[in-house]
Amino acid sequence: MKKRILTGDRPTGKLHLGHFVGSLKNRVKLQEKYEQFIIIADIQALTDNFKTPEKVSKNVYEVAMDNLAVGLDPNKTTFFIQSQISQIAELTILFANLVTMSRLSRNPTVKSEIKEKGFEDSLPLGFFMYPVSQAADILFLNADLVPVGADQLPHIEQTREIARSFNNIYGKIFNIPEALVGEYPRLIGTDGNAKMSKSLGNCIYLSDSKEELKEKVKKMFTDPKRIHPTDLGNVAGNPVFIYHNIFNPNKEEVKELEERYKKGKVGDVEVKEKLFLALDSFLAPIREKRKYYEGRPNLVKEILFAGTKKTQSEAQKVMDKVKTAIGINFTG
Ligand code: TRP
Repeated sequence: MKKRILTGDRPTGKLHLGHFVGSLKNRVKLQEKYEQFIIIADIQALTDNFKTPEKVSKNVYEVAMDNLAVGLDPNKTTFFIQSQISQIAELTILFANLVTMSRLSRNPTVKSEIKEKGFEDSLPLGFFMYPVSQAADILFLNADLVPVGADQLPHIEQTREIARSFNNIYGKIFNIPEALVGEYPRLIGTDGNAKMSKSLGNCIYLSDSKEELKEKVKKMFTDPKRIHPTDLGNVAGNPVFIYHNIFNPNKEEVKELEERYKKGKVGDVEVKEKLFLALDSFLAPIREKRKYYEGRPNLVKEILFAGTKKTQSEAQKVMDKVKTAIGINFTG
């Protein structure tokens, strides 16, 4: 039997290069060896967008198309929509008994999101406990592996604790899943901020046009101390060179640019122009595939509906086991 992967995204906007290096690249690679499920986590997205649900429903298809565009093959990877799997909600309630408020409030990702979203004085319970619901996302399929960006690691740790706790109290039902972070688990933003994030406005999206990409690269943060092309430049921590190293397959060119930059023998304009070309050829096939799906909305829907249907029957199997283990399987 193939091992299982479960991972996915909140449908709150288009996916960006940070998603690619953190998780999508692993998804594409691992779909060959694993039975892979991708959750479009609309219920989780509602936990901080409950007043603007149309933002969530609109982005379900966008996020699905981004995943398809990078090369996920619907014949190998099953896509499903979280809201259509009611067993996830049932499991969330049962798991909530196994987690304390103080444990949840120590989750560093949730802590920084609370600040970012201005929830300090009015924290919705749904948002506070979304890591419990994420544990249900992962455990209802008994996933073995969860490819994610670095910010998700606390949630996977929480998931493992819930699985162990459930198994200890009610009997062994759940695997203890492992996290897998990409080669570059956290990507610096175009503005030099440690994290590429939609709310910071420092993203390059997988669906950006040539023109959008060009503008963004032109405006990228470089070495702030370097004013003239003849000034000696700093390569370490410089987002332009970080991107060159990740996305430019021409390693010789990158090395040569770095040498000249350090010696004050190349201007930002040239370094950025070459980065633009490298990123553009990286994004070109992704854009093309996206266009294919954009022109076939019914195909995208079909992929989501067929995947969701398949996932629903898996979910019922686990739920029966869980209810039997707890002793609440009161059916005839
Ligand atoms: N929290 C993830 C994000 O913000 C999305 C997500 C929901 C997820 N459920 C998941 C990721 C289960 C991995 C596994 O991107």
